[in-house]
Amino acid sequence: MFRAGGTHKRRAILGGSIRYLGIDIGTGGTRALLIDEMGKVVASGSAQHQPFASPRPGWAEQDPRDWWRACRLAVGEALDSSRLRADEIACVGFSGQMHGAVLLDADAQVIRNAIIWCDQRSEGQSHALAQMFGAGELIRLTSNPPLPNFTLTKLLWVRDNEPENWKRTAHILLPKDYVRFRLTGERAMDVSDASGTLLLDVAGRRWSAEVLSRTAIDDRLLPALYESPQVCGRVSPAGAEATGLRAGTPVVAGAGDQAAGAVGMGVARAGAVSATIGTSGVVFAATDRPALDPQGRLHTFCHAIPGRWHVMGVTQAAGLSLRWFRDRFGTPAKDGHDPYDCLAEEASSAPAGSDGAFWVPYLMGERTPHLDPNARAALLGLTISHTRGHVIRAILEGVAYSLKDTFMIFEEMRIPVTSVRLGGGGARSALWRQIQADVYGHEVEIVAAEEGAAYGAAILAGTGAGAWRSVEEACDTVVRVAVRIAPDREGFEVVQRAYGTYRKIYPALQQIF
Ligand code: XUL
Repeated sequence: MFRAGGTHKRRAILGGSIRYLGIDIGTGGTRALLIDEMGKVVASGSAQHQPFASPRPGWAEQDPRDWWRACRLAVGEALDSSRLRADEIACVGFSGQMHGAVLLDADAQVIRNAIIWCDQRSEGQSHALAQMFGAGELIRLTSNPPLPNFTLTKLLWVRDNEPENWKRTAHILLPKDYVRFRLTGERAMDVSDASGTLLLDVAGRRWSAEVLSRTAIDDRLLPALYESPQVCGRVSPAGAEATGLRAGTPVVAGAGDQAAGAVGMGVARAGAVSATIGTSGVVFAATDRPALDPQGRLHTFCHAIPGRWHVMGVTQAAGLSLRWFRDRFGTPAKDGHDPYDCLAEEASSAPAGSDGAFWVPYLMGERTPHLDPNARAALLGLTISHTRGHVIRAILEGVAYSLKDTFMIFEEMRIPVTSVRLGGGGARSALWRQIQADVYGHEVEIVAAEEGAAYGAAILAGTGAGAWRSVEEACDTVVRVAVRIAPDREGFEVVQRAYGTYRKIYPALQQIF
């Protein structure tokens, strides 16, 4: 399926080694990763983005042109360090932060900063959609309820508040699709990322004609839709000049960062679940049907695998909670040490349960399970004997409790959970791994190449180029579990009791905020 030409034929043409390039356009930066047909990482490059601008509380914006700048740097670094010839790169795949609204004018120029995934300004538009469609109707049409995170509410905000910008809008893209557009000149979007726009009929894997017509969004603004491993364009001469890739190199549609990250961890079939703590935190389950939560607490999106879907719960500020602590309160200066390692070391001086200190991580409002953009974070339960270590441990535990909320909804919905794989920063810290095993009450697995969404994007590129017959086959070939961590009996008991208390905090805080 989706072959750009047989592997052996290509080998004969190219004569050298064959590599696949995955490019992830994250929030903090862009990462480029080259893999071979065994899934081995042969080179990588990365470049930071400008931190997102927050001109008002709850707003978050980035300049799409900065992503393209970072992409060029990251790809250049990966190519230089690989010492490969450009014609040895057989295919390119993208993944990226989801939901961001990139608006281009008729000359394909950026009209305004992209309003990105965590921006909360469109609460009014979200309420207006709920009223227009009535409870349940949007879930029927798109599998999801209206939320300020989704692209549609951001588009409606621009239309309501910046009519001049809206009038100039000729093309709407998601973040990675803008970067691909700069590389190929093609406007394309894959169904996994498009699921987070609220304009997709997720069950039918096509734009929802009904949502488009009732919200008066012209479908000509939207790009063509593809399945993730499908080739949707080729590197243009200008894209080649900018990146060092070969003009004509095929490019697949790729996936939203969560679906791509899941592919990279081998979360491909029903029963497989991942818990990834990056800036946001996501618990993701692959499903073979579009499983709906009637309360809309989980997102039901297309998977990056044709004919598969996934459900996921999102904690807005997961890794962001720890970064916030680091940036605001600092780490003990230790030359040559990763600041997060220093924080984890401090946290390990406190016992499981943090002696009654709790962190609720709602620094950017919350999606799962509250769907409340106005939720606020809180640190509570402190006494005179609590230390910095207790507070840091409370943050690690609070983020894990918040992800556990999604496991509880999976249970309600009878979504099977046979394996749990950890990803992101939460998988790198030994302490956070153990906390997660104890809080989820499940053995957790760490895969050998925990390389995040760029790795999944490279797998999708390889599948599109015919290295594997399907994404599942690719996962079976390249993904290997390196470590398994079982819950610790004592820690498990303490944090399960504490989770009961954690569940009571939001309803109590709701009366205050
Ligand atoms: C998923 C989500 C995040 C962003 C940023 O719904 O909002 O994963 O894509 O990483």
